[in-house]
Amino acid sequence: MDNLLKDKNILLGITGGVALYKICDLIRKLKAEEANVKVILSSGAEEFARPVLFSSLSGNETFTNADFFKPTGRILHIELAKFPDLILIAPATASFLSKLATGQASELLLATLIASKAPTYIFPSMNTNMWEHPATQENIKKLKNYGYFIYEPSEGKLACQSVGKGRLPEIEEILETIKAHFIKKTLKGKKVLITGGPTREYIDEVRFITNDSSGKMAFYLAKNAYYRGAEVHLVWGLKDFPYVLPNLEYISSIPFPKIYFVRTTKEMFEISQRVFPECNIAIFASAPCDFRPKNIFKGKLKKTKSLTLELELTEDIAKTLGTNKRADQITIGFALEEPDKLETYAQIKKKEKNFDIIIANPLTTMGKETSDFIIFTSKDKLVFKDISKMQLAQFLFDFLGSYVQRGSSSK
Ligand SMILES: Cc1cc2nc3c(=O)[nH]c(=O)nc-3n(C[C@H](O)[C@H](O)[C@H](O)COP(=O)(O)O)c2cc1C
Repeated sequence: MDNLLKDKNILLGITGGVALYKICDLIRKLKAEEANVKVILSSGAEEFARPVLFSSLSGNETFTNADFFKPTGRILHIELAKFPDLILIAPATASFLSKLATGQASELLLATLIASKAPTYIFPSMNTNMWEHPATQENIKKLKNYGYFIYEPSEGKLACQSVGKGRLPEIEEILETIKAHFIKKTLKGKKVLITGGPTREYIDEVRFITNDSSGKMAFYLAKNAYYRGAEVHLVWGLKDFPYVLPNLEYISSIPFPKIYFVRTTKEMFEISQRVFPECNIAIFASAPCDFRPKNIFKGKLKKTKSLTLELELTEDIAKTLGTNKRADQITIGFALEEPDKLETYAQIKKKEKNFDIIIANPLTTMGKETSDFIIFTSKDKLVFKDISKMQLAQFLFDFLGSYVQRGSSSK
């Protein structure tokens, strides 16, 4: 948990599409993030499910059209319009989009939306033909112009058994989209290069030398920079990228991170070297192999006798880029060292690779979610005990804001 949704008031509008069944899980996850969730059902949604399901999951009253004209002395749609930090509509039907695009306030959910100035994220879900219908597309255009954030549906198998665009995105993706909303866009217009994961150095065509780097630190850095509005270039040494990132291009001009899959240190070096000149910040969070076999055997080596490998040094990515950087570029590196040598080696490495900032962490960090970290600049020493890699990423970019403001004189 990253606390981005903690104590946030989320008004969740649910409309009458089959994907509504997934929303129970969304409410559970929002609650797990300690958000305060209130639900309004559209008249269509009331045909699919009863309010008690959502109130028992949200721990709050769920509102329906029957509440709209109840003579309670409350003007409910105005009251509800003032409640949210963020409004989330999922799933949003074609019919709902049409009514909202024409400013209808004939139902509690619609009236609340028309009365609210809260940022509103809409996740349409429907059959592909309904999605592609010119009327739906026209409504989407209008709603975008009105300032609603419309997140396009995914492609895949739909409830109607056809395959195409129209699926509600995975719940994790919805959750991440609204989390990104609550991060200040402090890196808008900036380009950030991040290297992550291990590299592989081949002995023959199937065997290789590598290390245990999980890429987690680089992932959290890339995600945080992306949510802050940066154009992220992630040079990635793992085979898979097993993480969910929302596509913020649907709702803003922030480009989806460019992920370059590489295998060897040479490949990681070549891509990083190509991308680096355009970047404002480079963070070297990968664990590239420092050595590679001098000769790579063709095919698969046979197990006949013992083998001696001669290893040569690989390219030093951080040093080459760090010592050739422009004055306006910031480079940040990590030093993974034994605890008693942490500070000494980190300082040596910082100087040798010309880093502006180095983050020292003990050998036990590899593959773990949490660790101790020390951030060194030439003036600062910031010590963190047992924090998550996600928290470190958040802190580093917060710190970078004030660091840049202090100017290069303080580097
Ligand atoms: C079984 C069934 C499934 C439906 N699924 C969807 C859907 O996924 N997306 C959609 O836009 N409409 C869907 N509809 C149509 C909407 O339920 C219908 O347009 C309804 O009036 C929407 O009301 P609302 O916008 O007030 O929720 C479905 C209807 C039925 C009967």
